[in-house]
Amino acid sequence: MKVVVAGQGYVGLPLAVRAAEVGHRVVGYDVNTERARRLAAGESYVEDVASSRLRAVLDTGAYSATADADALADFDIAVITVPTPLRGGVPDLTYIESCARTLGGRLQPGATVVLESTTYPGTTEELLLPILEKASGLKGGSDFLAGFSPERIAPGNKRFSFEGTPKLVSGIDAASLDVIKGFYDSIFQTTVPVSGPKVAEMAKLIENVFRFVNISLVNELATLAKPLGVNVWEAIDAAATKPFGFTRFTPGPGVGGHCLPVDPLFLSWKVRQELGVPFRFVELAADVNRHMPDYVVQRLAEAFQERGMPVSGSRILLLGLTYKINATDLRESPSARVAELLISLGAVVRGADPNIPAGDRAELTLPMVDATAEEIAASDAVVLLMDHARFDLAMIEKNAPYVLDCRNRLSGPNVETL
Ligand SMILES: NC(=O)c1ccc[n+]([C@@H]2O[C@H](COP(=O)([O-])OP(=O)(O)OC[C@H]3O[C@@H](n4cnc5c(N)ncnc54)[C@H](O)[C@@H]3O)[C@@H](O)[C@H]2O)c1
Repeated sequence: MKVVVAGQGYVGLPLAVRAAEVGHRVVGYDVNTERARRLAAGESYVEDVASSRLRAVLDTGAYSATADADALADFDIAVITVPTPLRGGVPDLTYIESCARTLGGRLQPGATVVLESTTYPGTTEELLLPILEKASGLKGGSDFLAGFSPERIAPGNKRFSFEGTPKLVSGIDAASLDVIKGFYDSIFQTTVPVSGPKVAEMAKLIENVFRFVNISLVNELATLAKPLGVNVWEAIDAAATKPFGFTRFTPGPGVGGHCLPVDPLFLSWKVRQELGVPFRFVELAADVNRHMPDYVVQRLAEAFQERGMPVSGSRILLLGLTYKINATDLRESPSARVAELLISLGAVVRGADPNIPAGDRAELTLPMVDATAEEIAASDAVVLLMDHARFDLAMIEKNAPYVLDCRNRLSGPNVETL
């Protein structure tokens, strides 16, 4: 089966490589010519796909990477994994639209198109399908098949494998579901069919809204527990001993990444657009989340005040700038806002993150240093934003004059937790 995976990023590349490994003939298509070139040269830029795996499927010919749309002709199944960002709070579906036009122009009768990009309910049937139909001159359902299957990839998560995580599948009709389920059955251990694309689209957003709201809830709790004289971390751990009806989430400096702070707003946008009402939980969670960097800075300012030091002119080291533990990804990370606020107060701010590749550090506006004992000891305050495994926590505890620990990993007289 000739499979096209359009979009070779965090979602598309792992899918394309896995599909090639299980025996499909896969074309990894990306409009970014530099990405396509690197992939064709066997160089992976996605942490969950080792370059050795990529080279193995390139060598057998099962996988090829291209930016040339002509290489997509005669596909049996095409999967769309292009970005779906928000612009000014409004979903930007232009990447899906343009990809749909490209695929539609090469759509053969009997072929299948699946959307995986995260989006609001209705996108597959109301946006994707009409574009495919117009570009191909074919009719969805009778001439070609289509559906939605949300991605649940968790970059860097070693506990849940790509193929071991159950995959939701849907189709615009029974025949579409049948083919789409069959395709994903060849790749994933478990597929879960649902009645249609809208349910699958909504399910993905429910998953992300659930996490977003719950993380924002414990973040707000953290800001309230301290003035109440309660250790929120201990209280959450205590609550988590309940074996049912509770899921443990822990506070932090804010929710980052390209999914959690973004996807729930797709749903609140759609709700407002169609129903004219706010999705209050999501809007509240977004507001709490947005203000967590302010709270981190407020706590630091209080700590400086207690020690009779001004924030202005003080040397502050931010440890762990990525939005996620052990990841290399800086997108939407709250660390940028923490740095910006501290700089606006006149602090001399530096960052340290061993996970960010040296080549990418040049793109950061913050001066970067290594988290050495000397650097830590020379800082007036250290903020542990992300507790990457590569940090030597005992060394940080030993050398830092003061630490604001946003992850509850350190202890000692010089440590305060968020
Ligand atoms: N990264 C995750 O953890 C994750 C998890 C679940 C869902 N998602 C969703 O999956 C989708 C893709 O996310 P990602 O993280 O892989 O994005 P990404 O930015 O890493 O990759 C997307 C790729 O698509 C390419 N592209 C853009 N327009 C294209 C077009 N018309 N044709 C072909 N390629 C095109 C881009 O050049 C880029 O390489 C988004 O909707 C995202 O919300 C992401």
